[in-house]
Amino acid sequence: MSVRLAEVTDPAEIEALVPHVWRIFQMVSTGAALGWAVPPSQAEVRELLTTVVEGAAVSEAALLVAYASDDDVVGPAGLDAAPMPLADGTVLAGIGYWRRYARQTHRPHADLERVAVPAGYQGRGIGRAITEGLVASARKAGIEVLTLDARGDNERALALYRTLGFNEYGRLIDFVAVGHLRYDKVLYALDLRRPWPRLEGGRGPR
Ligand SMILES: CC(C)(COP(=O)(O)OP(=O)(O)OC[C@H]1O[C@@H](n2cnc3c(N)ncnc32)[C@H](O)[C@@H]1OP(=O)(O)O)[C@@H](O)C(=O)NCCC(=O)NCCS
Repeated sequence: MSVRLAEVTDPAEIEALVPHVWRIFQMVSTGAALGWAVPPSQAEVRELLTTVVEGAAVSEAALLVAYASDDDVVGPAGLDAAPMPLADGTVLAGIGYWRRYARQTHRPHADLERVAVPAGYQGRGIGRAITEGLVASARKAGIEVLTLDARGDNERALALYRTLGFNEYGRLIDFVAVGHLRYDKVLYALDLRRPWPRLEGGRGPR
């Protein structure tokens, strides 16, 4: 499998991406912790991508996607819908973005959101590559502190963020509501004003 990361900066690209991103976000229906209780509609995905890509033009945001050649995906794609091939035969194998805070007093900072890799492509370094790419682009855009939050049971994501230097700065116990279930909301931050503090990584997709 070869993987190519791309930053989406052209609003004209959004329409073609919508069904593929929508498909990735369907993982919410099998329990993925992406901040939705039910998967977003295609209209909601379009609106989200439009906001982020328009923000990218003015250093307000960045959207990264990963395209993978689909030649050697091992094992089933779990219960999630397998990604559909794009026109060039690759598949959308990951997405993630950051957005600057809207609050005036928080403007130097941004929040990293919705890093997602479809089940059949997980564990191959794509999530790490996307997150590293987003950290690099936030640094380049002059973001001072990059925050994120994750569900307390999302150990895979939390481990990934810790290896990239994110530190826990708070935890709201039993805050995330999914039906009758409650999970901790874990708050992580990476201070980009300091030298790159990551402990490991930089290996790229494998
Ligand atoms: C979290 C997620 C984005 C990680 O993407 P991925 O492509 O599978 O991750 P990678 O292969 O890059 O692995 C990154 C790290 O995740 C952790 N990880 C990966 N697979 C793991 C596993 N089976 N068990 C435990 N940790 C694992 C490891 O820390 C790994 O570090 P390594 O590179 O040193 O092995 C992906 O699992 C996903 O989309 N999950 C559902 C959506 C979600 O929870 N998003 C995060 C919201 S906060």
